Amino acid sequence: ATKIILDCDPGHDDAIALLLAHGSEEIELVAVTTVHGNQTIEKVTRNALAVARIAGITGVPFAAGSHRPLVRAAEVAESIHGESGLDGPVLPEPTLRVDERHAVDLIIDTVMAAEPGTITLVPTGALTNIALAVRTEPRIAGRVKEVVLMGGGYHVGNWSAASEFNIAIDPEAAHIVFNESWKLTMVGLDLTHQALATPDVVARIAAIGTGPARFVVELLEFFGQTYRETQGFEFPPVHDPCAVALVIDPSVMTVVKVPLDVELTGTLTLGMTVADFRAPAPADCTTHTATDLDHDRFWALIVDALERIGDV
Ligand code: BDR
Ligand code: CA
Repeated sequence: ATKIILDCDPGHDDAIALLLAHGSEEIELVAVTTVHGNQTIEKVTRNALAVARIAGITGVPFAAGSHRPLVRAAEVAESIHGESGLDGPVLPEPTLRVDERHAVDLIIDTVMAAEPGTITLVPTGALTNIALAVRTEPRIAGRVKEVVLMGGGYHVGNWSAASEFNIAIDPEAAHIVFNESWKLTMVGLDLTHQALATPDVVARIAAIGTGPARFVVELLEFFGQTYRETQGFEFPPVHDPCAVALVIDPSVMTVVKVPLDVELTGTLTLGMTVADFRAPAPADCTTHTATDLDHDRFWALIVDALERIGDV
Protein backbone atom coordinates (compact mmCIF):
# COMPACT_ATOMS: atom_id res chain seq x y z
CA ALA A 1 0.00 0.00 0.00
CA THR A 2 1.11 3.57 -0.70
CA LYS A 3 1.63 5.71 2.39
CA ILE A 4 -0.09 9.07 2.09
CA ILE A 5 -0.44 12.27 4.08
CA LEU A 6 -3.82 13.83 3.31
CA ASP A 7 -3.67 17.61 3.76
CA CYS A 8 -7.28 18.78 3.61
CA ASP A 9 -9.97 21.34 4.51
CA PRO A 10 -13.17 19.29 4.98
CA GLY A 11 -15.27 20.25 3.09
CA HIS A 12 -17.76 17.78 1.56
CA ASP A 13 -15.43 16.38 -1.08
CA ASP A 14 -12.46 16.35 1.34
CA ALA A 15 -14.57 14.20 3.68
CA ILE A 16 -15.22 11.74 0.84
CA ALA A 17 -11.50 11.77 0.00
CA LEU A 18 -10.75 10.83 3.60
CA LEU A 19 -13.25 7.96 3.48
CA LEU A 20 -11.81 6.75 0.17
CA ALA A 21 -8.25 6.78 1.52
CA HIS A 22 -9.27 4.99 4.71
CA GLY A 23 -11.33 2.36 2.90
CA SER A 24 -8.79 1.54 0.20
CA GLU A 25 -6.46 -1.45 0.48
CA GLU A 26 -3.97 0.33 -1.77
CA ILE A 27 -3.50 3.22 0.65
CA GLU A 28 -2.04 3.50 4.11
CA LEU A 29 -3.13 6.78 5.67
CA VAL A 30 -0.15 7.85 7.80
CA ALA A 31 -1.28 11.34 8.77
CA VAL A 32 -4.10 13.80 8.21
CA THR A 33 -3.36 17.51 8.35
CA THR A 34 -5.78 20.40 8.02
CA VAL A 35 -5.52 23.79 6.41
CA HIS A 36 -7.73 26.91 6.26
CA GLY A 37 -9.91 26.97 3.16
CA ASN A 38 -13.48 25.82 2.90
CA GLN A 39 -13.90 27.14 6.44
CA THR A 40 -11.70 28.38 9.29
CA ILE A 41 -8.96 26.11 10.57
CA GLU A 42 -10.96 25.45 13.77
CA LYS A 43 -14.01 24.32 11.80
CA VAL A 44 -12.23 22.17 9.21
CA THR A 45 -10.15 20.48 11.91
CA ARG A 46 -13.26 19.66 13.90
CA ASN A 47 -14.88 18.35 10.72
CA ALA A 48 -11.88 16.13 9.97
CA LEU A 49 -12.09 14.61 13.44
CA ALA A 50 -15.86 14.10 13.11
CA VAL A 51 -15.31 12.28 9.81
CA ALA A 52 -12.67 10.13 11.51
CA ARG A 53 -15.29 9.05 14.00
CA ILE A 54 -17.86 8.32 11.30
CA ALA A 55 -15.31 6.28 9.32
CA GLY A 56 -13.82 4.54 12.35
CA ILE A 57 -10.33 5.94 11.78
CA THR A 58 -8.09 5.40 14.79
CA GLY A 59 -4.33 5.36 15.27
CA VAL A 60 -3.68 8.04 12.64
CA PRO A 61 -2.41 11.45 13.80
CA PHE A 62 -4.57 14.44 12.86
CA ALA A 63 -2.88 17.83 13.15
CA ALA A 64 -4.19 21.35 12.60
CA GLY A 65 -2.23 23.61 10.28
CA SER A 66 -2.17 27.10 8.86
CA HIS A 67 -5.01 29.42 9.77
CA ARG A 68 -4.52 31.75 6.80
CA PRO A 69 -2.72 32.12 3.46
CA LEU A 70 0.93 33.21 3.29
CA VAL A 71 0.27 36.69 1.93
CA ARG A 72 -3.41 37.30 1.34
CA ALA A 73 -6.40 37.63 3.65
CA ALA A 74 -8.28 34.41 4.38
CA GLU A 75 -11.33 33.54 2.28
CA VAL A 76 -13.79 30.71 2.99
CA ALA A 77 -16.20 28.87 0.69
CA GLU A 78 -19.35 29.19 2.78
CA SER A 79 -21.52 29.39 -0.35
CA ILE A 80 -20.47 25.84 -1.28
CA HIS A 81 -19.81 24.10 2.05
CA GLY A 82 -22.03 26.06 4.45
CA GLU A 83 -21.39 27.71 7.79
CA SER A 84 -19.77 24.65 9.38
CA GLY A 85 -17.76 23.75 6.28
CA LEU A 86 -19.62 20.43 6.26
CA ASP A 87 -23.28 21.43 6.33
CA GLY A 88 -25.98 18.82 5.73
CA PRO A 89 -25.31 15.76 7.89
CA VAL A 90 -25.46 15.96 11.68
CA LEU A 91 -21.85 15.59 12.83
CA PRO A 92 -20.93 13.50 15.87
CA GLU A 93 -18.69 14.82 18.65
CA PRO A 94 -15.15 13.80 17.71
CA THR A 95 -13.52 11.09 19.79
CA LEU A 96 -9.99 11.41 18.39
CA ARG A 97 -7.86 14.18 19.86
CA VAL A 98 -5.93 16.48 17.61
CA ASP A 99 -2.15 15.92 17.61
CA GLU A 100 -0.24 18.56 19.56
CA ARG A 101 2.13 19.26 16.69
CA HIS A 102 1.45 21.85 14.02
CA ALA A 103 0.54 20.25 10.69
CA VAL A 104 3.76 21.57 9.16
CA ASP A 105 5.82 19.78 11.83
CA LEU A 106 3.82 16.58 11.48
CA ILE A 107 4.37 16.59 7.71
CA ILE A 108 8.12 17.15 8.14
CA ASP A 109 8.47 14.57 10.94
CA THR A 110 6.53 11.95 8.99
CA VAL A 111 8.44 12.41 5.74
CA MET A 112 11.86 12.58 7.41
CA ALA A 113 11.21 9.51 9.57
CA ALA A 114 10.05 7.35 6.64
CA GLU A 115 12.22 5.58 4.07
CA PRO A 116 13.02 8.01 1.22
CA GLY A 117 10.56 7.77 -1.65
CA THR A 118 7.77 6.17 0.33
CA ILE A 119 5.43 9.03 1.30
CA THR A 120 2.99 10.61 -1.16
CA LEU A 121 1.59 14.02 -0.26
CA VAL A 122 -2.06 14.44 -1.22
CA PRO A 123 -3.15 18.05 -0.71
CA THR A 124 -6.85 18.72 -1.28
CA GLY A 125 -6.93 22.28 0.02
CA ALA A 126 -4.83 25.43 -0.17
CA LEU A 127 -1.11 24.68 -0.36
CA THR A 128 -0.09 26.79 2.65
CA ASN A 129 1.05 23.87 4.87
CA ILE A 130 2.94 22.13 2.08
CA ALA A 131 4.73 25.35 1.08
CA LEU A 132 5.70 26.08 4.70
CA ALA A 133 6.86 22.49 5.21
CA VAL A 134 9.19 22.51 2.21
CA ARG A 135 10.55 25.96 3.07
CA THR A 136 11.15 24.84 6.68
CA GLU A 137 12.74 21.49 5.76
CA PRO A 138 13.84 21.59 2.11
CA ARG A 139 15.03 17.97 2.26
CA ILE A 140 11.42 16.78 2.14
CA ALA A 141 11.41 17.73 -1.57
CA GLY A 142 13.83 14.92 -2.32
CA ARG A 143 12.30 12.48 0.13
CA VAL A 144 8.63 12.35 -0.77
CA LYS A 145 7.60 9.93 -3.48
CA GLU A 146 5.43 12.53 -5.21
CA VAL A 147 2.77 15.19 -4.71
CA VAL A 148 -0.69 14.43 -6.10
CA LEU A 149 -2.92 17.43 -5.49
CA MET A 150 -6.45 18.58 -6.20
CA GLY A 151 -6.31 22.14 -7.40
CA GLY A 152 -5.98 24.31 -10.45
CA GLY A 153 -7.09 23.56 -13.96
CA TYR A 154 -5.59 24.29 -17.36
CA HIS A 155 -8.74 25.48 -19.11
CA VAL A 156 -11.22 26.46 -16.48
CA GLY A 157 -11.56 28.20 -13.12
CA ASN A 158 -14.21 28.27 -10.41
CA TRP A 159 -13.15 31.00 -7.95
CA SER A 160 -12.52 33.33 -10.86
CA ALA A 161 -12.76 32.79 -14.62
CA ALA A 162 -9.18 31.52 -14.66
CA SER A 163 -8.44 30.29 -11.14
CA GLU A 164 -9.52 27.38 -8.99
CA PHE A 165 -10.31 27.88 -5.27
CA ASN A 166 -7.41 25.95 -3.66
CA ILE A 167 -4.86 27.81 -5.76
CA ALA A 168 -6.69 31.15 -5.83
CA ILE A 169 -6.88 31.57 -2.07
CA ASP A 170 -3.11 31.08 -1.59
CA PRO A 171 -1.40 31.53 -4.95
CA GLU A 172 2.00 32.25 -3.38
CA ALA A 173 1.94 28.91 -1.56
CA ALA A 174 0.88 27.16 -4.77
CA HIS A 175 3.74 28.85 -6.63
CA ILE A 176 6.22 27.41 -4.12
CA VAL A 177 4.76 23.92 -4.36
CA PHE A 178 4.47 23.83 -8.17
CA ASN A 179 8.08 25.02 -8.58
CA GLU A 180 9.69 22.50 -6.21
CA SER A 181 11.86 19.65 -7.49
CA TRP A 182 9.43 16.88 -6.54
CA LYS A 183 7.22 15.05 -8.99
CA LEU A 184 3.87 16.85 -8.94
CA THR A 185 0.57 15.90 -10.50
CA MET A 186 -2.24 18.42 -10.73
CA VAL A 187 -5.69 16.88 -10.58
CA GLY A 188 -7.52 20.04 -11.57
CA LEU A 189 -10.99 21.11 -12.56
CA ASP A 190 -10.65 19.82 -16.14
CA LEU A 191 -10.51 16.36 -14.56
CA THR A 192 -12.76 16.78 -11.53
CA HIS A 193 -15.64 18.25 -13.52
CA GLN A 194 -15.90 14.74 -15.01
CA ALA A 195 -16.40 13.25 -11.52
CA LEU A 196 -20.07 14.16 -11.24
CA ALA A 197 -22.20 12.55 -8.56
CA THR A 198 -25.03 11.59 -10.91
CA PRO A 199 -28.28 10.15 -9.50
CA ASP A 200 -27.26 6.58 -10.43
CA VAL A 201 -24.02 7.01 -8.47
CA VAL A 202 -25.85 8.38 -5.44
CA ALA A 203 -28.30 5.46 -5.63
CA ARG A 204 -25.45 2.93 -5.70
CA ILE A 205 -23.91 4.52 -2.61
CA ALA A 206 -27.27 4.64 -0.82
CA ALA A 207 -27.77 0.93 -1.57
CA ILE A 208 -24.69 0.07 0.50
CA GLY A 209 -26.90 0.87 3.47
CA THR A 210 -24.20 1.53 6.09
CA GLY A 211 -23.74 4.59 8.32
CA PRO A 212 -20.69 5.87 6.42
CA ALA A 213 -22.51 5.40 3.09
CA ARG A 214 -25.55 7.31 4.39
CA PHE A 215 -23.19 10.06 5.51
CA VAL A 216 -21.78 10.29 1.96
CA VAL A 217 -25.31 10.49 0.53
CA GLU A 218 -26.14 13.34 2.91
CA LEU A 219 -22.93 15.13 1.95
CA LEU A 220 -23.76 14.75 -1.75
CA GLU A 221 -27.31 16.06 -1.21
CA PHE A 222 -26.08 19.30 0.37
CA PHE A 223 -23.13 19.66 -2.02
CA GLY A 224 -25.40 18.94 -4.97
CA GLN A 225 -27.80 21.65 -3.88
CA THR A 226 -25.15 24.37 -3.48
CA TYR A 227 -23.55 23.41 -6.79
CA ARG A 228 -26.93 23.59 -8.48
CA GLU A 229 -27.93 26.90 -6.92
CA THR A 230 -24.63 28.79 -7.03
CA GLN A 231 -22.53 27.15 -9.78
CA GLY A 232 -25.12 26.10 -12.34
CA PHE A 233 -24.14 22.41 -12.21
CA GLU A 234 -26.84 19.80 -12.67
CA PHE A 235 -24.83 17.32 -10.54
CA PRO A 236 -21.94 18.15 -8.20
CA PRO A 237 -18.31 17.53 -9.20
CA VAL A 238 -16.65 15.57 -6.42
CA HIS A 239 -13.15 17.04 -6.70
CA ASP A 240 -10.92 15.87 -3.87
CA PRO A 241 -11.39 12.09 -4.04
CA CYS A 242 -10.04 12.23 -7.60
CA ALA A 243 -6.53 12.90 -6.26
CA VAL A 244 -6.81 9.94 -3.87
CA ALA A 245 -8.20 7.77 -6.68
CA LEU A 246 -5.14 8.46 -8.82
CA VAL A 247 -2.89 7.19 -6.02
CA ILE A 248 -5.03 4.05 -5.65
CA ASP A 249 -5.26 3.24 -9.35
CA PRO A 250 -3.25 5.19 -11.95
CA SER A 251 -5.44 3.71 -14.71
CA VAL A 252 -8.46 5.68 -13.41
CA MET A 253 -7.33 8.76 -15.36
CA THR A 254 -5.02 9.91 -18.12
CA VAL A 255 -2.05 11.97 -16.94
CA VAL A 256 0.28 13.94 -19.18
CA LYS A 257 3.63 15.55 -18.44
CA VAL A 258 3.47 19.31 -19.05
CA PRO A 259 5.22 22.39 -17.66
CA LEU A 260 2.94 24.07 -15.09
CA ASP A 261 3.27 27.32 -13.22
CA VAL A 262 1.08 29.59 -11.10
CA GLU A 263 0.24 33.15 -12.11
CA LEU A 264 1.05 35.63 -9.35
CA THR A 265 0.67 38.98 -11.04
CA GLY A 266 -2.24 38.76 -13.49
CA THR A 267 -5.09 41.20 -13.09
CA LEU A 268 -7.62 38.74 -14.55
CA THR A 269 -5.59 35.57 -14.08
CA LEU A 270 -4.18 35.73 -10.54
CA GLY A 271 -3.93 32.15 -9.26
CA MET A 272 -4.31 30.57 -12.69
CA THR A 273 -2.35 27.36 -13.24
CA VAL A 274 -0.76 27.85 -16.64
CA ALA A 275 0.06 24.70 -18.63
CA ASP A 276 2.42 24.96 -21.60
CA PHE A 277 1.12 22.44 -24.15
CA ARG A 278 3.00 24.00 -27.10
CA ALA A 279 5.62 21.27 -27.39
CA PRO A 280 6.45 17.92 -25.76
CA ALA A 281 7.53 18.54 -22.16
CA PRO A 282 11.30 18.78 -21.69
CA ALA A 283 13.05 15.83 -20.08
CA ASP A 284 13.60 17.68 -16.80
CA CYS A 285 9.92 18.65 -16.43
CA THR A 286 8.55 17.39 -13.08
CA THR A 287 4.94 18.56 -13.42
CA HIS A 288 1.98 16.59 -14.75
CA THR A 289 -1.71 17.13 -15.17
CA ALA A 290 -4.65 14.77 -15.23
CA THR A 291 -6.89 15.09 -18.28
CA ASP A 292 -9.52 12.33 -18.69
CA LEU A 293 -11.38 10.38 -16.03
CA ASP A 294 -12.78 6.86 -16.25
CA HIS A 295 -16.05 7.78 -14.51
CA ASP A 296 -17.21 4.20 -13.83
CA ARG A 297 -13.89 3.05 -12.47
CA PHE A 298 -13.69 6.13 -10.24
CA TRP A 299 -17.08 5.57 -8.63
CA ALA A 300 -16.36 1.86 -8.29
CA LEU A 301 -13.36 2.80 -6.11
CA ILE A 302 -15.61 4.91 -3.86
CA VAL A 303 -18.21 2.14 -3.59
CA ASP A 304 -15.48 -0.45 -2.84
CA ALA A 305 -13.99 1.72 -0.11
CA LEU A 306 -17.37 2.25 1.55
CA GLU A 307 -18.10 -1.47 1.37
CA ARG A 308 -14.74 -2.23 2.97
CA ILE A 309 -15.35 0.32 5.74
CA GLY A 310 -18.73 -1.29 6.43
CA ASP A 311 -20.74 -0.20 9.45
CA VAL A 312 -18.70 1.48 12.14
C1 BDR B 1 -11.81 22.62 -4.30
O1 BDR B 1 -12.31 23.70 -3.52
C2 BDR B 1 -12.90 23.22 -2.34
O2 BDR B 1 -14.08 23.92 -2.08
C3 BDR B 1 -13.12 21.75 -2.55
O3 BDR B 1 -13.03 21.07 -1.31
C4 BDR B 1 -12.03 21.36 -3.50
O4 BDR B 1 -10.84 21.02 -2.80
C5 BDR B 1 -12.49 22.65 -5.65
O5 BDR B 1 -12.22 23.85 -6.30
CA1 CA C 1 -10.83 20.63 -0.44
